[in-house]
Amino acid sequence: MRKLESLFVNNKNWAKTITDSEPDFFKNLSKQQAPQYLWIGCSDSRVPANEIVGLAPGEVFVHRNIANLVIHTDLNCLSVIQFAVEILKIKHIIVCGHYGCGGVRAALDNNNHGLIDNWLQHIKDIYRYYKNDFDGNLPSTEKYNLLCELNVIEQVTNVCHTTIVQNAWKEGHELTVHGWIYDIGDGILNDLEISISGLEETDQIQNIVKDFLEKSVSLKKSKTQQN
Ligand code: CO
Repeated sequence: MRKLESLFVNNKNWAKTITDSEPDFFKNLSKQQAPQYLWIGCSDSRVPANEIVGLAPGEVFVHRNIANLVIHTDLNCLSVIQFAVEILKIKHIIVCGHYGCGGVRAALDNNNHGLIDNWLQHIKDIYRYYKNDFDGNLPSTEKYNLLCELNVIEQVTNVCHTTIVQNAWKEGHELTVHGWIYDIGDGILNDLEISISGLEETDQIQNIVKDFLEKSVSLKKSKTQQN
């Protein structure tokens, strides 16, 4: 099998650039990691966690899967959250979705995509749950954008409902769960402003979602009318 030579060349150059400016960077980093953030994002190659937020190796703990889903029985994702919260003691969990998400789009169509349809069923469930909130006048692109946003909100809710996060809050740990969305069209991150920092706020999630929906749908409507 051919070696992927160019990637090894890139790697040497990358490591050299870092050690040129900070000779002990890797030596120090190899001793321990102390990231402040857990990033739960989409596997999409256009949404690289560290680059988007300008963080160096060691600064963000990352879990990515198709359409940034947090499923209550996904041991992979739950293990990442547990390690991040209980061992690394991170203070911020960021669920970051993105506009133009292929996973969300595939959930909206009725085509057969194979095995992945079982994974995407979780997004179809979200669409079904919020179906009445999708204003009939919204064009399909805005519907798609709204579902990308709602998917983030639902995953934020799922993170908040994990036993790991619930227990951390019960024990008085400082921990905030954020919902962000990234626009692959301009490289800009948007805060959906639904951050949750404790058990009481989790109980208020329905109101937070209601306010968000009103704001987002009217924004999308006025944007549509302008065009
Ligand atoms: Co995606």
